[in-house]
Amino acid sequence: MSDEYLKNPRVKIEPDTFVKSAFAPELMETVRRFHASIPEYRVTPLHSLENLAARLEIASLWVKDETNRFGLNAFKGLGVAYAMNRFLENHPAKSSGSVPIWVTATDGNHGHALAWAALCLGHHAVIFGPKTMPEKRIQRMQSLGARVSVLPGNYDEAVLHARRAARQNGWNLLQDTAVHDREQIPLWIMQGYTTLLTETLEQLRGKLPTHVFVQCGVGSLAASMTAGLACRFAGQKPRVFIVEARAAACCFKSMKKNDGKIHAVRGALDTVMSGLACGQPSRLAWPILEDLAHGFFRCDDSTALLGQRGYRNPLKGNPTLQAGESGAVTLGLLMNLSAGKSPDRNSLLNRSSRVLLLLTEGPTRDLCDRKKTP
Ligand SMILES: Cc1ncc(COP(=O)(O)O)c(C=O)c1O
Repeated sequence: MSDEYLKNPRVKIEPDTFVKSAFAPELMETVRRFHASIPEYRVTPLHSLENLAARLEIASLWVKDETNRFGLNAFKGLGVAYAMNRFLENHPAKSSGSVPIWVTATDGNHGHALAWAALCLGHHAVIFGPKTMPEKRIQRMQSLGARVSVLPGNYDEAVLHARRAARQNGWNLLQDTAVHDREQIPLWIMQGYTTLLTETLEQLRGKLPTHVFVQCGVGSLAASMTAGLACRFAGQKPRVFIVEARAAACCFKSMKKNDGKIHAVRGALDTVMSGLACGQPSRLAWPILEDLAHGFFRCDDSTALLGQRGYRNPLKGNPTLQAGESGAVTLGLLMNLSAGKSPDRNSLLNRSSRVLLLLTEGPTRDLCDRKKTP
């Protein structure tokens, strides 16, 4: 099968009043100032892959490289650190007395960030993951002192389990997806991700992409980027394309049904893109994507592997980048589009397109693990 595209027939230019206040440029500056106060904070690189852009017959190709954010493997620390800080500001009693315990469900990267942030503060982290969670990720979280339990179900079931555990034990739930409307913590997490956008816009020095391709699991990252761009640029906003794993393409499915409701994908959610193996969109993210994203892609595992090879074997003059599957899928998609494998290529991209990709994670497997993958 090849990647599939769905245009959003109802895409709007103007964000609604909630989005306008939640992702206002001043708020993004405040978030960035908070991150800059963290000792491990560094601006992550923005690579310009000029030779690959020429090969793909587009004007520019930029890659925001999140493979070493805060010394972790992925961008997720931005959301966790900001949300944890806001939570503690709002609930001071929870940071005094006995050592706070944070709990979450994860497919790996969010839990890794939570384990790191809890360790930095001398707190405890309890993490639940689906049975598909790669072993390397479990070990990484455990090495930061987190208690990790692997559950028999998929990611969405782990999310419900973590919520129950938080309620029953009085632990602080720090989840990056909203099960109900207007949940505060997932919103803080989405706001935390905006530093990635703030940095990128500074690094681009006024040059604006025409297209942004963003990976989507529950949609918090994609909604954060989409909302941040819409609040800053309104009608001049780059077109944002949402990219999901075919086995877990819940936003694609919801857009396809086009009835204003969320439609989950159930079952094993079996994909090499374990960061995107989420069958239920966040209730905070979906309305933003439904209003403001230009289109939705669902991609095969082979697309992610193609993207990994593309990053690993660059054209002369471009940097070599090591990417995890979820991080690499957007490059694979772009390569497939440009190779003419999709009839949508000509309606979407041309020689003046300036494309921004987010390389959201570094390698997910050790070399010895990799031998096991087909
Ligand atoms: C590497 C990577 N990229 C993208 C995403 C998607 O983020 P979200 O679940 O907010 O859509 C994730 C989520 O875990 C991820 O791990």
